[in-house]
Amino acid sequence: MFDQYNRRINYLRISVTDRCNLRCTYCMPEVGITQIPHDQILTFEEIVEFTKIAVRLGFEKVRITGGEPLVRKGIVELVRMISNIEGIADFGMTTNGTLLSNFAQDLFKAGLKRINVSLDTLNPEKYSQITRVGKLSDVLEGLDHAKKVGFNPIKLNCVVEKDSSEPDALAVKEFAQRNGFIARFIPKMDLDEGTHGVVEGGEGGNCSTCNRLRLTANGILKPCLFSDSGFNIRELGFEKAIEMTIKHKPACGMINLSGEFYNIGG
Ligand code: 5AD
Ligand code: SF4
Repeated sequence: MFDQYNRRINYLRISVTDRCNLRCTYCMPEVGITQIPHDQILTFEEIVEFTKIAVRLGFEKVRITGGEPLVRKGIVELVRMISNIEGIADFGMTTNGTLLSNFAQDLFKAGLKRINVSLDTLNPEKYSQITRVGKLSDVLEGLDHAKKVGFNPIKLNCVVEKDSSEPDALAVKEFAQRNGFIARFIPKMDLDEGTHGVVEGGEGGNCSTCNRLRLTANGILKPCLFSDSGFNIRELGFEKAIEMTIKHKPACGMINLSGEFYNIGG
């Protein structure tokens, strides 16, 4: 389907949970996180049915995000269900990687072949600072498992202040080259200000070619990360919600008042 600005909308990002086992400073407030009540979270059946309808309407790319998707109970089963949907050309997951050691093999067997892992620094102390509670070695072990199991491509999402010339980014770039991973550099966004840069080595952040919609864990379909508008798929019906959201996709992102990322999956 095409939007008002003639962009072909074919990429669906599905947040399967707003919960996360980390507390990255640029993503979450330290305390006072409002969580979606469990009874509002979309069921696997709803997610799969919605995805099937999206695929029928021309969506070809699907990505599972969070929060942290691997904390959603039964995630391997959901991955299996989605990977069995015919017509998805590109199916991936974005994860913080801390739980990947446990999950890599099962996810791969369930049909997931592509994975993006958040990695902002290779300095263990700095990693623990940024994530407030995370351990760098967990992510490095997770990446190692993912590589051994056969994930390809494995991409690294590295949040930078400005660009990849920063020391932490250079270290991540070198680490990626050495291991056969692909590094992408995401300028730190400020949702309050609505500022966002173009992702280096990726396709995000460029409004003129933006092809994505985002589904939140409680079933709100959003036309843009930088917009407060959203359409409830349960209330509107899945097909109608997709049509309305595409129709309301802004030419370029504006300000999002919620000021939080953890419920929209970056
Ligand atoms: N700016 C840029 N990227 C962010 N992410 C989360 N919050 C921000 C932010 N403020 C990205 C992280 C992670 C992905 C899920 O979302 O890079 O990899
Ligand atoms: Fe969790 Fe990702 Fe947000 Fe960090 S950026 S707190 S890993 S959802």
